[in-house]
Amino acid sequence: MRTPDHNFKDDDDEDDDFGYPDGEDRDSLTDVPGGVRLQKVLAEAGIGSRRHCEEMIGAGRVEVDGQTVRRFGARVDPEHQVIRVDGKRIPAKPGLVYLAFNKPPKVLTAMSDPRGRKTVTDYLGDRSERLFHIGRLDYDTEGLMLLTNDGELAHRLAHPSFEVAKTYLAEVTGPVPKDLAQRLQTGVELDDGVATADRFRVVDRSGNRALVEITLHEGRKHIVRRMLAEVGHPVSRLLRTTVGPIRLAGLPPGATRDLGVKEIGELYADLAREAYKPFEGVLMKMPGTK
Ligand code: URA
Repeated sequence: MRTPDHNFKDDDDEDDDFGYPDGEDRDSLTDVPGGVRLQKVLAEAGIGSRRHCEEMIGAGRVEVDGQTVRRFGARVDPEHQVIRVDGKRIPAKPGLVYLAFNKPPKVLTAMSDPRGRKTVTDYLGDRSERLFHIGRLDYDTEGLMLLTNDGELAHRLAHPSFEVAKTYLAEVTGPVPKDLAQRLQTGVELDDGVATADRFRVVDRSGNRALVEITLHEGRKHIVRRMLAEVGHPVSRLLRTTVGPIRLAGLPPGATRDLGVKEIGELYADLAREAYKPFEGVLMKMPGTK
């Protein structure tokens, strides 16, 4: 039996179980003693008003530990149970912070630097959480970087086996030949092995400069610069625009924004999909499956 912390005990039970008569359980989820009402957990995670969350529960859109829960009064442990809305995981613990940061150039991907260069910390104001950067951008690379104090997410996203797709805009020496996309998508031989782009396109061109967009699952050091240099188009400016489902959008350089609940859920969903990749094709061939 789980023994949740007392600090999330729900003392606001005025609307307990109003959907169903006493004792009539609509599912078999076992209440966690001292847990919090499910609709309260959802509302506090920013999913919507308490009433809206109750509607979602009633509509069968909410799962706890893989089980659909339709009972409004169910008591759950948000710190230890996995709660999903429409299949998307909601942030596990109160106090977890997920930020998008638009890293300017000439900023070190580190929380401190013994050599006194600017680091990510210089842009976080007086935030008290101990934040980790997820993955790295070169000193000169700009754009989207994710920061969190959710150690599990940071670890999983940074792990090579969970390489989520990332998109970059690069200013390169042109002109870019028509067959470059195919070359990059087929794979480019680098010192440490072949690197392959998922997608590549020319966004703009002017004289001997071109702005290109490249998406890849790779996390190797200087990978975009090395790939484009290898095919004869050295990068003069590099900006990351997406990490998995998260977009830089209009975030100004040096600014941070909190990720929304939907974005965090999508990030977890992306990780789950990546985790199943090694099994793709294997499951289909299992005896008894079509
Ligand atoms: N690829 C690079 O070359 N640099 C980065 O910062 C990120 C990806």
